[in-house]
Amino acid sequence: QDTVALVPAAGRGERLGPGAPKSLRHLGGEPLVVHAVRRLATASSVAAVVVAAPPGASETVRELLAPVVMTAELIVVEGGDTRQASVAAALAAAPGHCDIVLVHDAARALAPPELADAVAAAVRDGHPAVVPVLPVVDTVRQVTASGSSTIDREALRLVQTPQGFSRSVLAKAHAECDDALTDDAGLVERLGLPVHTVPGHPNALKVTRPFDLVVASAVLAAEGG
Ligand code: C5P
Repeated sequence: QDTVALVPAAGRGERLGPGAPKSLRHLGGEPLVVHAVRRLATASSVAAVVVAAPPGASETVRELLAPVVMTAELIVVEGGDTRQASVAAALAAAPGHCDIVLVHDAARALAPPELADAVAAAVRDGHPAVVPVLPVVDTVRQVTASGSSTIDREALRLVQTPQGFSRSVLAKAHAECDDALTDDAGLVERLGLPVHTVPGHPNALKVTRPFDLVVASAVLAAEGG
Protein backbone atom coordinates (compact mmCIF):
# COMPACT_ATOMS: atom_id res chain seq x y z
CA GLN A 1 0.00 0.00 0.00
CA ASP A 2 1.49 3.33 -1.09
CA THR A 3 1.08 6.46 1.01
CA VAL A 4 0.44 10.01 -0.22
CA ALA A 5 0.78 13.05 2.04
CA LEU A 6 -1.62 15.95 1.44
CA VAL A 7 -0.40 19.31 2.71
CA PRO A 8 -2.99 22.08 3.13
CA ALA A 9 -0.86 25.22 2.83
CA ALA A 10 -3.37 27.77 1.52
CA GLY A 11 -4.25 29.59 4.74
CA ARG A 12 -3.70 33.32 5.05
CA GLY A 13 -2.28 33.12 8.56
CA GLU A 14 -4.01 36.24 9.83
CA ARG A 15 -3.29 35.36 13.48
CA LEU A 16 0.43 35.57 12.63
CA GLY A 17 0.02 39.26 11.73
CA PRO A 18 0.21 41.01 8.34
CA GLY A 19 2.42 39.49 5.64
CA ALA A 20 2.66 36.65 3.14
CA PRO A 21 0.37 33.56 3.38
CA LYS A 22 1.40 31.59 6.47
CA SER A 23 3.01 28.65 4.67
CA LEU A 24 5.34 31.07 2.85
CA ARG A 25 6.50 32.85 6.02
CA HIS A 26 10.10 32.09 6.91
CA LEU A 27 11.47 30.05 9.77
CA GLY A 28 15.27 29.84 9.95
CA GLY A 29 15.54 31.27 6.41
CA GLU A 30 13.09 28.89 4.71
CA PRO A 31 9.29 29.00 4.22
CA LEU A 32 7.21 26.86 6.58
CA VAL A 33 5.92 24.77 3.67
CA VAL A 34 9.49 23.84 2.68
CA HIS A 35 10.24 22.61 6.19
CA ALA A 36 7.00 20.62 6.33
CA VAL A 37 7.35 18.99 2.91
CA ARG A 38 11.05 18.17 3.35
CA ARG A 39 10.26 16.18 6.49
CA LEU A 40 7.29 14.40 4.89
CA ALA A 41 9.23 13.57 1.74
CA THR A 42 12.01 11.95 3.76
CA ALA A 43 9.55 9.72 5.65
CA SER A 44 10.17 6.22 4.31
CA SER A 45 6.41 5.53 4.04
CA VAL A 46 5.63 8.55 1.82
CA ALA A 47 5.63 7.94 -1.97
CA ALA A 48 3.96 11.21 -3.04
CA VAL A 49 3.24 14.67 -1.67
CA VAL A 50 0.35 16.88 -2.84
CA VAL A 51 0.50 20.50 -1.67
CA ALA A 52 -2.54 22.82 -1.72
CA ALA A 53 -0.86 26.17 -2.35
CA PRO A 54 -2.17 29.65 -1.57
CA PRO A 55 -4.31 31.00 -4.45
CA GLY A 56 -2.03 32.42 -7.14
CA ALA A 57 1.12 30.92 -5.59
CA SER A 58 1.13 27.39 -7.09
CA GLU A 59 4.07 28.12 -9.39
CA THR A 60 6.09 29.74 -6.58
CA VAL A 61 5.43 26.75 -4.32
CA ARG A 62 6.37 24.29 -7.08
CA GLU A 63 9.67 26.11 -7.64
CA LEU A 64 10.41 26.19 -3.90
CA LEU A 65 9.70 22.49 -3.46
CA ALA A 66 11.13 20.91 -6.61
CA PRO A 67 14.73 20.87 -5.24
CA VAL A 68 13.51 19.58 -1.86
CA VAL A 69 11.44 16.57 -2.88
CA MET A 70 13.91 13.99 -4.20
CA THR A 71 12.51 10.64 -3.21
CA ALA A 72 8.76 11.26 -3.60
CA GLU A 73 6.44 12.42 -6.39
CA LEU A 74 5.47 16.11 -6.02
CA ILE A 75 2.12 17.59 -7.10
CA VAL A 76 1.01 21.17 -6.39
CA VAL A 77 -2.61 22.32 -6.69
CA GLU A 78 -4.35 25.55 -5.75
CA GLY A 79 -6.03 25.48 -2.34
CA GLY A 80 -9.55 26.63 -1.51
CA ASP A 81 -11.36 29.10 0.76
CA THR A 82 -11.35 26.74 3.74
CA ARG A 83 -8.93 24.13 5.03
CA GLN A 84 -11.46 21.46 4.13
CA ALA A 85 -11.67 22.72 0.54
CA SER A 86 -7.88 22.73 0.31
CA VAL A 87 -7.68 19.11 1.54
CA ALA A 88 -10.42 18.09 -0.91
CA ALA A 89 -8.53 19.71 -3.82
CA ALA A 90 -5.32 17.91 -2.84
CA LEU A 91 -7.14 14.58 -2.42
CA ALA A 92 -8.64 14.91 -5.91
CA ALA A 93 -5.11 15.26 -7.33
CA ALA A 94 -3.55 12.37 -5.34
CA PRO A 95 -2.02 9.57 -7.45
CA GLY A 96 -4.43 6.66 -7.90
CA HIS A 97 -1.96 4.04 -6.64
CA CYS A 98 -1.92 5.53 -3.11
CA ASP A 99 -4.36 3.79 -0.73
CA ILE A 100 -3.16 5.45 2.47
CA VAL A 101 -3.53 9.21 2.85
CA LEU A 102 -1.79 11.43 5.38
CA VAL A 103 -3.10 14.97 5.87
CA HIS A 104 -0.53 17.34 7.35
CA ASP A 105 -0.78 21.08 8.02
CA ALA A 106 2.08 23.10 6.54
CA ALA A 107 1.79 25.09 9.79
CA ARG A 108 3.16 22.05 11.71
CA ALA A 109 6.39 22.58 9.82
CA LEU A 110 8.74 20.68 12.14
CA ALA A 111 6.80 17.43 12.63
CA PRO A 112 9.46 14.70 12.36
CA PRO A 113 9.36 12.12 9.51
CA GLU A 114 9.08 9.35 12.12
CA LEU A 115 5.69 10.71 13.17
CA ALA A 116 4.38 10.40 9.59
CA ASP A 117 5.74 6.84 9.45
CA ALA A 118 4.09 5.90 12.76
CA VAL A 119 0.71 7.25 11.64
CA ALA A 120 0.95 5.52 8.23
CA ALA A 121 1.91 2.25 9.94
CA ALA A 122 -1.19 2.39 12.16
CA VAL A 123 -3.40 2.85 9.07
CA ARG A 124 -1.59 -0.07 7.39
CA ASP A 125 -2.35 -2.13 10.49
CA GLY A 126 -6.07 -1.67 9.81
CA HIS A 127 -7.15 1.54 11.54
CA PRO A 128 -9.24 3.60 9.07
CA ALA A 129 -8.42 6.90 10.83
CA VAL A 130 -5.38 7.72 12.98
CA VAL A 131 -4.45 10.92 14.85
CA PRO A 132 -1.30 11.79 16.83
CA VAL A 133 -2.17 13.23 20.25
CA LEU A 134 -0.45 14.77 23.25
CA PRO A 135 -1.63 14.86 26.87
CA VAL A 136 -2.94 18.15 28.23
CA VAL A 137 -0.55 19.63 30.78
CA ASP A 138 -2.62 22.61 31.92
CA THR A 139 -5.67 22.48 34.12
CA VAL A 140 -8.69 23.05 31.85
CA ARG A 141 -11.76 25.08 32.79
CA GLN A 142 -14.98 25.31 30.80
CA VAL A 143 -16.53 28.76 30.87
CA THR A 144 -20.23 29.34 30.19
CA ALA A 145 -22.64 32.23 30.69
CA SER A 146 -23.63 30.77 34.06
CA GLY A 147 -20.16 30.22 35.49
CA SER A 148 -17.18 27.91 35.08
CA SER A 149 -16.12 24.38 36.00
CA THR A 150 -13.00 22.24 35.79
CA ILE A 151 -12.83 19.52 33.12
CA ASP A 152 -10.90 16.33 33.95
CA ARG A 153 -7.74 16.75 31.88
CA GLU A 154 -6.83 13.05 32.17
CA ALA A 155 -9.53 12.36 29.57
CA LEU A 156 -8.39 15.08 27.17
CA ARG A 157 -5.79 15.05 24.37
CA LEU A 158 -4.41 17.71 22.03
CA VAL A 159 -4.67 16.64 18.39
CA GLN A 160 -1.85 17.13 15.88
CA THR A 161 -1.12 16.25 12.27
CA PRO A 162 -0.15 14.26 10.22
CA GLN A 163 -3.45 12.41 10.49
CA GLY A 164 -3.77 9.17 8.53
CA PHE A 165 -6.67 7.55 6.70
CA SER A 166 -7.55 4.78 4.37
CA ARG A 167 -8.18 6.67 1.15
CA SER A 168 -11.73 5.40 0.64
CA VAL A 169 -12.73 6.49 4.16
CA LEU A 170 -11.29 10.00 3.76
CA ALA A 171 -12.94 10.41 0.34
CA LYS A 172 -16.31 9.33 1.77
CA ALA A 173 -15.93 11.65 4.77
CA HIS A 174 -15.24 14.61 2.51
CA ALA A 175 -18.06 13.71 0.13
CA GLU A 176 -20.67 13.31 2.88
CA CYS A 177 -19.79 16.00 5.42
CA ASP A 178 -19.77 19.68 4.62
CA ASP A 179 -19.71 21.02 8.17
CA ALA A 180 -16.83 23.36 8.86
CA LEU A 181 -14.53 21.25 11.04
CA THR A 182 -10.93 21.99 11.95
CA ASP A 183 -9.54 18.56 11.08
CA ASP A 184 -10.19 15.50 8.93
CA ALA A 185 -10.55 12.96 11.73
CA GLY A 186 -13.60 14.97 12.85
CA LEU A 187 -15.20 14.32 9.45
CA VAL A 188 -14.49 10.59 9.67
CA GLU A 189 -15.98 10.52 13.16
CA ARG A 190 -19.22 11.95 11.71
CA LEU A 191 -19.42 8.77 9.59
CA GLY A 192 -19.53 6.80 12.85
CA LEU A 193 -16.06 5.32 12.39
CA PRO A 194 -13.53 5.00 15.23
CA VAL A 195 -10.49 7.31 15.33
CA HIS A 196 -7.34 5.61 16.64
CA THR A 197 -4.75 7.64 18.56
CA VAL A 198 -0.95 7.31 18.55
CA PRO A 199 1.58 9.33 20.58
CA GLY A 200 2.21 12.78 19.07
CA HIS A 201 5.47 14.73 19.14
CA PRO A 202 6.20 18.13 20.72
CA ASN A 203 8.05 19.27 17.55
CA ALA A 204 4.77 18.95 15.63
CA LEU A 205 3.56 22.17 17.26
CA LYS A 206 1.34 24.35 15.07
CA VAL A 207 2.63 27.77 14.10
CA THR A 208 -0.39 30.02 14.56
CA ARG A 209 0.71 33.12 16.48
CA PRO A 210 4.02 35.04 16.54
CA PHE A 211 4.96 33.30 19.82
CA ASP A 212 4.82 29.93 18.04
CA LEU A 213 7.43 31.12 15.53
CA VAL A 214 9.75 31.92 18.45
CA VAL A 215 9.27 28.40 19.85
CA ALA A 216 9.65 26.78 16.41
CA SER A 217 12.89 28.72 15.80
CA ALA A 218 14.28 27.33 19.05
CA VAL A 219 13.20 23.78 18.08
CA LEU A 220 14.87 24.18 14.68
CA ALA A 221 18.08 25.49 16.29
CA ALA A 222 18.10 22.54 18.71
CA GLU A 223 17.75 20.20 15.69
CA GLY A 224 20.94 21.76 14.36
CA GLY A 225 19.22 23.28 11.29
O1 C5P B 1 -5.89 28.27 9.94
P1 C5P B 1 -5.23 27.06 10.49
O2 C5P B 1 -3.93 27.37 11.17
O3 C5P B 1 -6.12 26.17 11.29
O4 C5P B 1 -4.83 26.22 9.20
C1 C5P B 1 -4.32 24.91 9.30
C2 C5P B 1 -3.68 24.53 7.97
O5 C5P B 1 -4.67 24.58 6.94
C3 C5P B 1 -2.55 25.49 7.56
O6 C5P B 1 -1.44 24.74 7.11
C4 C5P B 1 -3.20 26.32 6.46
O7 C5P B 1 -2.27 26.76 5.47
C5 C5P B 1 -4.20 25.35 5.86
N1 C5P B 1 -5.34 26.03 5.19
C6 C5P B 1 -5.56 25.80 3.84
N2 C5P B 1 -6.59 26.46 3.18
C7 C5P B 1 -7.36 27.34 3.84
C8 C5P B 1 -7.16 27.59 5.24
C9 C5P B 1 -6.13 26.91 5.89
O8 C5P B 1 -4.85 25.01 3.20
N3 C5P B 1 -8.30 27.99 3.16
